Amino acid sequence: MNAFQIRAATSEDARFLSDMLVEASNWNVATSRPRIAVLEDPKVTRYIAGWLRPGDFGSVAEDQNGVPIGACWGRLFPANAPGYGFVASGVPELTLGVNTQWRARGVGRALLQAVARQAALAGHARVSLSVERANFAQRLYISEGYVTVESGENSDTMVRAVH
Ligand SMILES: CC(C)(COP(=O)(O)OP(=O)(O)OC[C@H]1O[C@@H](n2cnc3c(N)ncnc32)[C@H](O)[C@@H]1OP(=O)(O)O)[C@@H](O)C(=O)NCCC(=O)NCCS
Repeated sequence: MNAFQIRAATSEDARFLSDMLVEASNWNVATSRPRIAVLEDPKVTRYIAGWLRPGDFGSVAEDQNGVPIGACWGRLFPANAPGYGFVASGVPELTLGVNTQWRARGVGRALLQAVARQAALAGHARVSLSVERANFAQRLYISEGYVTVESGENSDTMVRAVH
């Protein structure tokens, strides 16, 4: 069964979003870390700590039984404590993850589109993200209108306008 639905994320989704943050951090199986190690890394936990904070927004994909299968969310970072994909204060940075068994069925794309709509509704003009160039997810982002605005050694910061 490929059917899924998307709903707005709530404060009750903190645990599942943490799971998806671990998936995003561990996208490369060759360098993946145990969940506990990922969630003890302040550079990673800053994407979820205190969820749902003012300014946070996101979407959760669920299977037909209401079981969460993927999530995408946006969070604002200050210029003096930027995230990996920081471009400017006021531009939310996105995190995206889908459960392994649900990948390549359109869930990631649907979540990205839902969160772009949420960002626009929240009054944002742009969203950003950081992706390692070796991650095929970058092709998904390009096809959703994300453009590279800055490149590091292995990763790109990408931005898209939302409206
Ligand atoms: C990246 C990720 C969120 C994409 O979610 P998804 O539900 O698998 O993506 P979709 O099914 O919407 O696929 C999006 C596109 O990527 C392609 N794709 C999916 N899986 C792929 C794979 N393993 N290799 C290459 N391309 C793939 C699809 O073909 C699709 O393109 P299409 O619509 O033109 O066919 C998901 O794979 C994931 O959670 N990966 C691990 C975490 C991660 O990397 N997060 C992003 C960090 S920046």
